[in-house]
Amino acid sequence: MTVIGLGYLGATSAIAFAKMGHQVLGIDPDQAKVRALQSGSIPFFEPGLDNALSEVKSNGKIRFASSHDDESRKANVHFLCVGTPQSKVGLSADTSYLFTAVDELLPYLAKDSVIAGKSTVPVGTADLLIEHIRNIKGFLPHLSWNPEFLQEGRALEDSLYPNRIVIGSSDRHSTWTLRQLYRNQIEEGIPVVETDLRTAELVKVAANAFLATKISFINLMAEVAEVAGADTAELAKAIGYDDRIGSKFLRNGIGYGGGCLPKDLRSFVARSRELGLEDSVGLLEQVEAINSRRRNRPVEIAKEYFGSLVGKEVLILGASFKPDTDDIRDSPSLEVAELFVGEGAVVTVHDPMSLPKVSATYPTLRTQPDLETAFRNKEVVVLGTEWGQYKQLDPASVSISSRPGLIIDGRNALDVAAWKQAGWAFMALGNGFHQVEEKSQSSQAVA
Ligand SMILES: NC(=O)c1ccc[n+]([C@@H]2O[C@H](COP(=O)([O-])OP(=O)(O)OC[C@H]3O[C@@H](n4cnc5c(N)ncnc54)[C@H](O)[C@@H]3O)[C@@H](O)[C@H]2O)c1
Repeated sequence: MTVIGLGYLGATSAIAFAKMGHQVLGIDPDQAKVRALQSGSIPFFEPGLDNALSEVKSNGKIRFASSHDDESRKANVHFLCVGTPQSKVGLSADTSYLFTAVDELLPYLAKDSVIAGKSTVPVGTADLLIEHIRNIKGFLPHLSWNPEFLQEGRALEDSLYPNRIVIGSSDRHSTWTLRQLYRNQIEEGIPVVETDLRTAELVKVAANAFLATKISFINLMAEVAEVAGADTAELAKAIGYDDRIGSKFLRNGIGYGGGCLPKDLRSFVARSRELGLEDSVGLLEQVEAINSRRRNRPVEIAKEYFGSLVGKEVLILGASFKPDTDDIRDSPSLEVAELFVGEGAVVTVHDPMSLPKVSATYPTLRTQPDLETAFRNKEVVVLGTEWGQYKQLDPASVSISSRPGLIIDGRNALDVAAWKQAGWAFMALGNGFHQVEEKSQSSQAVA
């Protein structure tokens, strides 16, 4: 098979397919990425992927190149894993990378080979690709959509043991080929949904829209709890025991981010409008509006506490959009950091994995790789990404190097009692009690 596009999705999928025993050629025009993979290193951080790569390289199951070669002609399946980022001019997804990738593939495409899309696309994209290929090649291609549900931070495990396999296609040969490819997983009992192309495309955006909605729902409750004087974490625990609701994705905080949820939700809104469904997208617009409001909350809390933030030394703990990845695309933490900069604060960011990316793209932010040094002289600390090392921090030991100030738990992950005991003023998002409790301290601080 070929795997076209070697980003977070493609590199992981290529390595997982090779681990499953398939012969894989990974292709990406980004020569630096290809060179890194050829030399056995993963161009991003993803737990376990480097070991898996060296295993499949040593048994000759995988090869990387910056363009197609004769091997491509022999492939039974070509997986499309290129990016579908938000368009520069609107909310919709930019699918041009898919069409370019297909154009590059066509000279090597055998008539009975299957093209399988894994990228996340607006519903109807596969139909356009089929038409595009038919116009150029003069035959109807075997095209399938096989959306990917892996989560960064556990991407390899999710690829090897997915919780479901969705195969969308309009011809039996494509479905049969993909079933053969996933034969071992299917035999192990992983459920398969065989469906048409459009449903398969929609499944992925629907799943992401649902997850985003769940997060924004609990963040909506956080907005209410802050004003009413209630505790969202307790509320989430209580409603999560109902298995119709479930406790996952029910922790309030500064919201969702990353390379998928935000742009997939916007693309869904844009596509629904194109389909004339203006009235239906209101819910999703609210989901996004709530998400973006929560990113303002740490600055609002700090301003309520200190008055002005001009010249305040602020530390943001975590830069990646979630723990166990170095992906900083649309990261809530970094937007919070920039909002503090906008208030005149001096902002330092700590992250275990993504600081080189932060330095390269956020010139207004300072970075500090040593956690203890990062804490020194900070008046406001915000937990933006719940990396394990922040949850395990001993507040007493960091307080030695740092005069305890205000800590804002943007992820509801820290031990309130321990931080308070170490002398810190503690505020968690979505907790009305903390705000009342800290009010007296706040007036002292302003005075
Ligand atoms: N990252 C995830 O966790 C994840 C999960 C599920 C689905 N997806 C979807 O997968 C797709 C890719 O996401 P990603 O996070 O891997 O993006 P990415 O930006 O990390 O990677 C995209 C890759 O495609 C390459 N590319 C561009 N044009 C190409 C071409 N003509 N031929 C070959 N390669 C080309 C780029 O060089 C880049 O390496 C998106 O549609 C995304 O929504 C991502």
